[in-house]
Amino acid sequence: MVRHAGDFRDCANINISFGGKQIVPTRILGIESSCDETAAAVVVDGRVILSSVVSSQLDIHRKYGGVVPELASREHLRQIVPVVREALLQAGLDFKDIDAVGVTQGPGLVGSLLVGVTYGKVLATELGKPLVPVNHLEGHVHAVFLEAHLDGKVPELPAICLIVSGGHTLLYHVQPAAGNGDGAKRGFDFRRLGGTRDDAAGEAYDKVARLLALGYPGGPIIDQIASKVAASGANFHEKDGLNFAPVKIKGNPYDFSFSGVKTAVLYYVRAHPEFTEEIEARKKALQEGRRKAADLMPLCSPRTLSLISKFQSAVVRDLVTRTLAAAAETGSRTVLVSGGVAANSELRERFASKAAKMNFAVFFPSRALSTDNAAMIAAAAYPHLLAGDVATPDLNAEPNLRLA
Ligand code: KG4
Ligand code: ZN
Repeated sequence: MVRHAGDFRDCANINISFGGKQIVPTRILGIESSCDETAAAVVVDGRVILSSVVSSQLDIHRKYGGVVPELASREHLRQIVPVVREALLQAGLDFKDIDAVGVTQGPGLVGSLLVGVTYGKVLATELGKPLVPVNHLEGHVHAVFLEAHLDGKVPELPAICLIVSGGHTLLYHVQPAAGNGDGAKRGFDFRRLGGTRDDAAGEAYDKVARLLALGYPGGPIIDQIASKVAASGANFHEKDGLNFAPVKIKGNPYDFSFSGVKTAVLYYVRAHPEFTEEIEARKKALQEGRRKAADLMPLCSPRTLSLISKFQSAVVRDLVTRTLAAAAETGSRTVLVSGGVAANSELRERFASKAAKMNFAVFFPSRALSTDNAAMIAAAAYPHLLAGDVATPDLNAEPNLRLA
């Protein structure tokens, strides 16, 4: 049965409330396809994850050192049906048991987003269930709440949220949206405080890793090598070693800039021809599939190891300093950190130690919830569903969608 115009809205009214009260748990199927992960998940009442399935395209994009949009959308097309089926299977549910479909509308790559949006529309129409468009960034904020929920915690608002990934470096002030109930039901109001003026932090990691032939994505490998260098207690003080000064930005103190750090690495590598040989050796290792820190670290000179750990410290110091300054300035006692780079161990440690001294509570999602996933999309869809904020049939992907 195919339903037509206006259906998503009608369905929202029919299915979710009776006499203004929620009477049954609401099971939302979340769909995420904004970048290079095809993901589906089932979440109950915005906080209880029944399943979360992520199909990563890393192996496809690795040889190009970054996401290739055309390949990404083609792969989403291949993966979306099996990934959704798997999410339902793992949740022990059938399509008919789903109360609503939540789908990432933007921001992201247009071809990738269109796969999820088109599939979501067709599915919701066929099932006669409401379709809820979700802002991917709002999803990242809900990811922190999903994780806290697993520990029986609810982060207190107002909060400062840092969303830091390969595509974004953004700071928001987060407050409960108007209405009743907890954050899961009410959702949030956002005020944008700042964002990157050039590269996202994860993008800088990826580009530096490419320059140094450390593979793709750059974040995890640089994180692991820098941790091992720190754990070894090695201290590479070199007279002409590269030292990163704190990033200076005119105007908004909550804006970020990482292209200077990346360019400093580039110029340093160019100025030192002795790097060529080890870079070639690492390229060869990568071609042979030896990608782990244990494979690549022995192929790094002390000077390269120093460069890697100083690069990471410079990025982490900047992220932590600006975020905590924003928390202090706005009187927020809570800091939320989300996105792929939130998995970084030095970032977590530095946030935890600095925030404890300043009496802030810091919340991170687990690695699985930090990177792109659909549980966060289903969670973010829930308050919008309750508010009747559901899609009309002309819903389209919005590659530049903003949160605030
Ligand atoms: O959120 P995500 O999966 O995708 C988007 O970009 O939206 O984030 C991926 C980014 C990549 O740039 C990757 O290098 C970075 O997150 N990343 C990390 C770590 N793990 C992933 N950066 C630093 N440390 C990590 N442990
Ligand atoms: Zn993301």
